[in-house]
Amino acid sequence: MLKPPALGFGLGLRVDHYEAILADRPAVDWFEVLTENYLVPGGKPLHYLMRMRERYPLAMHGVSMSIGSSAPLDRGYLEQVKQLARRVEPAWISDHLCWTGVAGRNTHDLLPLPYTEEALEHVAERVRAVQDILGRRILLENVSSYVAFRDSSLTEWEFLRGVAERADCLILLDVNNIYVSAVNHEFDPRDYLDAIPAGRVQQIHLAGHENHGDYLIDTHDHPVPDPVWELYAAAVARFGAVSTMIERDAHIPPLAELCAELDEARALAARTLASAAGAVPGPRSTAAASGPRRSAAAPS
Ligand SMILES: [Fe+2]
Repeated sequence: MLKPPALGFGLGLRVDHYEAILADRPAVDWFEVLTENYLVPGGKPLHYLMRMRERYPLAMHGVSMSIGSSAPLDRGYLEQVKQLARRVEPAWISDHLCWTGVAGRNTHDLLPLPYTEEALEHVAERVRAVQDILGRRILLENVSSYVAFRDSSLTEWEFLRGVAERADCLILLDVNNIYVSAVNHEFDPRDYLDAIPAGRVQQIHLAGHENHGDYLIDTHDHPVPDPVWELYAAAVARFGAVSTMIERDAHIPPLAELCAELDEARALAARTLASAAGAVPGPRSTAAASGPRRSAAAPS
């Protein structure tokens, strides 16, 4: 199956910005929409969604697939996702490499998996089943974590790569999540990037987090901080021009502020690619070329 074309630089579609987007038509290349907000047969959310779709390419991003769960796949949910995709014709559909509940209860948290061979085969089989149902390849996103399973025998990046290759799915790489987990679990975020097969990275998420000194919390309520920008530059140097999006889920600023932050991503990616192509690097791409130091696993 072919990889969808790159879309450029996007934002997460948030209700607070509906009117501003429709009125101002900002220079955003695409929007990522939260699938679960639109799993309804009609009404205001869908009305706005279709107006956005008339103006911009959209990607669907879900939080309820629970691909890592040992409970059976929720075929009713997947059928709803498929129906929405028929309507929206998204560029792609993504969810998270995690589990979200047990015994029919949804924790509404993106919980990490044990990174074992058994879990890898289990998840890969479920991804293949989901892709058969949806009739397309999906993207799986790495989640941030704060604890690890004693039974894990693989690194997170080995597990993500293994699932993507065995299931033939694509990857949504959340650079902030890599950085948060790198600090919390004391690994080198460059090792993570180095292990991910470039051909499978379809999208990148950028976001901010809360710094608690010796650990970080993935809050998505701050601008993208410098260490995440630096890791993003390293990701662009390795993966090339990948569709990139800024995720803000709380303390949502005015649209113009997010557009300015998106322009920073655009400029940093351009500088990094120009530098990789042998052009004269700008001041920020000097930092980009060196990327996060091996000590970047320490909180900033
Ligand atoms: Fe994300």
